[in-house]
Amino acid sequence: MCGIVGAIARRNVADILLEGLKRLEYRGYDSAGMSLIDGPDGEIVTIKTVGKVARLAAAASDEGASGRLGIAHTRWATHGKITRANAHPHESGGRLSLVHNGIIENHEELRRQLRSKGYEFTTDTDTEVIAHLIHQELSGDEGASLLDAVSRALGKLRGAYGLCVIDRRQPDRIVAARNGMSLVVGAGIGENFVASDTPALGQVTDRFLYLEDGDLAELTSDSIRIVNQGREIEREIATLSGKVSDMDKGSYQHFMQKEIFEQPRAIRDTLSGRVSGERALEEAFGVDAGEIFDQVRQVQIVACGTSFHAGLVAKYWLESIARMPCQIDIASDYRYRDIIVQPGTLFVAVSQSGETADTLAALRYANGLEHTATLAICNVATSSLVRESDFCVLTMAGQEIGVASTKAFTTQLTLLLVLAIVLGRRNGLSSEDEARLVRDMNRLPALVEKTLGLDRQIRKLSRQFSDKHHSLYLGRGIQYPVAKEGALKLKEISYIHAEAYPAGELKHGPLALVDSDMPVIVVAPNNDLLDKLRSNLSEVSARGGKLYVFADESIGLENDRNHKVIKLPGCPEVLDPILFTIPLQLLAYHVAVIKGTDIDHPRNLAKSVTVE
Ligand code: M6R
Repeated sequence: MCGIVGAIARRNVADILLEGLKRLEYRGYDSAGMSLIDGPDGEIVTIKTVGKVARLAAAASDEGASGRLGIAHTRWATHGKITRANAHPHESGGRLSLVHNGIIENHEELRRQLRSKGYEFTTDTDTEVIAHLIHQELSGDEGASLLDAVSRALGKLRGAYGLCVIDRRQPDRIVAARNGMSLVVGAGIGENFVASDTPALGQVTDRFLYLEDGDLAELTSDSIRIVNQGREIEREIATLSGKVSDMDKGSYQHFMQKEIFEQPRAIRDTLSGRVSGERALEEAFGVDAGEIFDQVRQVQIVACGTSFHAGLVAKYWLESIARMPCQIDIASDYRYRDIIVQPGTLFVAVSQSGETADTLAALRYANGLEHTATLAICNVATSSLVRESDFCVLTMAGQEIGVASTKAFTTQLTLLLVLAIVLGRRNGLSSEDEARLVRDMNRLPALVEKTLGLDRQIRKLSRQFSDKHHSLYLGRGIQYPVAKEGALKLKEISYIHAEAYPAGELKHGPLALVDSDMPVIVVAPNNDLLDKLRSNLSEVSARGGKLYVFADESIGLENDRNHKVIKLPGCPEVLDPILFTIPLQLLAYHVAVIKGTDIDHPRNLAKSVTVE
C-alpha cells in the first residue's frame, strides 16, 4: 500500500521525508520518490528509484538533494508496471509535483481529454492525470491559489485519493486532499507536515489533525488551513505523546486484548483503497490482477490455523457471491496430496506472518503448476510469502504480537470478501449487488466497535467457564468456521478443551458428550438456517446441556433456565462471520485471564511456525 509524507519548514526537509518513508515501509511498496523545492526561486528537484527507501536515500545523498518544501511517496504498483517512471511524484509542466494514494476510476477518460488539449503522458499511472488537471486549472487562471486549483481539479475525479501537491510558483505551501484514503496533518512549531499515517511523523511531532473525506488542507510553515466543500473547517489537534505503538501494550493488560480492540481501526485500514463508495477495487491486488482474474475459473485456498478458518469462511463467499468453485486445504496436507489442479485455478495462500513453513511449501508447489496464478493474502509486506507469490494483497492489521491471532483473522476475512466481489463481477454479480455489498462493508468498522461494547457482559459470563475442562462450539453453514475459530481461541490460551461442530452434526455423535458440565457455545445469526439451529438448541436443552448463545438481537431469543443469551447488534448477513467472531475472541480472552495463563505466549506455541 502506498505511503505519503510531506513537509514544509525553515530547514532542509529531505531527511524528514526519507525517515517518514522508512517508517511507512511496513505498508509494502516497490518504488519510492520525492520532490523538493528550495526557496522562492527554486526548481523542483525530483528523485525516484525502484526498490527500497535506502536506495532513494543513497540517490538523494549523491545528488545533495535539499529543500525547505517537499513531498515523498512509496508506491505499491496498481496502474502501470514497477518502473522508475511510474514511481511518484509525478510532475506537470515543470511547475507542479504530486504524490497520490488510491485509485482514480475515470483516469482513462480524463487521459483522453487531457491528451486532446496537448498534455503528454510519461507514465502508465492513473495519478498523472491529477497532476495535469491541476496544472490545467492553474494555467487557465494565473492568479488562482494552489488550493483552489486542486479543488476544481478534484471535482473531475471519480475514485479514492489521499494526495499532496506542490507548485514551484507558490513555494510557500503544500496542498493535501483526502477522499477515502487516510491522511493526517502533523503540526510543528514553524513547520508542518502531512502523511498517510501518524507513525511516519513520529520523529517530528506528536500533534495531529485527522483529515476527513472531502477535506483540503493548505500547509505553510506557520499555518494549517482546512477547507471542506468551500467552507473553512476547524479540525481538533490530538496530542499522541502517550501513543500506543504496536510494540507497546498501553493501558491494555495483554497484547491480545489490545489487538482485539484494534479491530475497527485494522479493518478500516484494510478497506482503505480496496473499496470505494460502491465498488470493490481490483486494482488494489496489483497491476496485473485484472488480467489474472479474467482467467480464473476456480479457487484453491491453502492456509494453517486461524488463517485456514478465514479460508473456510471465504469458500462460502466465493460460492455464493462469485459463484465459483472453491477448494480449501490445510497447508500441511495439501503439500502431500495427489492434487488434481484444473487449468484456471487461482491459488490463494492466506497467512498472517507469511513465514509459515507449510503454507510456504504449498505456495512453492503451486508456483510450479501450469495455468495457476498464486495470490498471497498476508500481513507482513516483507515476508517470503509476499515475495514468492505472483501477486499479493496486504491486510493492514499492523503488527500482531499475541500468539492468538485476532485482528489478522478479521482483516483476512475483509480482503477475502473483497476478492469474492471482484471475482463475482466477472461471473454475474450485478453492479447493484456489488454496490450493496460494498456499502455493507463500509459499515463494518462501526459495527465491530459496537460489538466490542459487549466486553463487560462477556467478562461476567466468562466466570461460568473457568472451572470447565471441556466445551462444545456450534455453528451452521458459514458460522461453522466461526465456531471453529472460537474453539481454537479458547483452547490455545485457556487450555480448556474446545471442540467445534456444525450444529447439524450434533445428533451424529457429539450429543453423547452433552451434560450439565459441558458448556455449549452457539453462534446464532439471523439467517435462513435459524429455524434449523433452534432445533439443535432444543436437542441440547433436552439433555440438560447448558447453552451460551451469541444471537443476533433481531431473532428474539431471551435468557431462560437453559439459555444464556448475549445479543449482538443486527447487521447485514454478509458481515455475520466477522461480527460473530468478536465475542468469541473476548470470551476466550476473559476465561484465560481468570485462569491466569500466559495469554500472549501460551505454552508450547510460537507466533510464527517456520518449521514443518
Ligand atoms: O502466520 P500464519 O497465519 O500463517 O499462521 C498460521 C497459524 O500458525 C496461526 O493462525 C495459529 O493457528 C494461531 N496461533 C491461531 O491463533
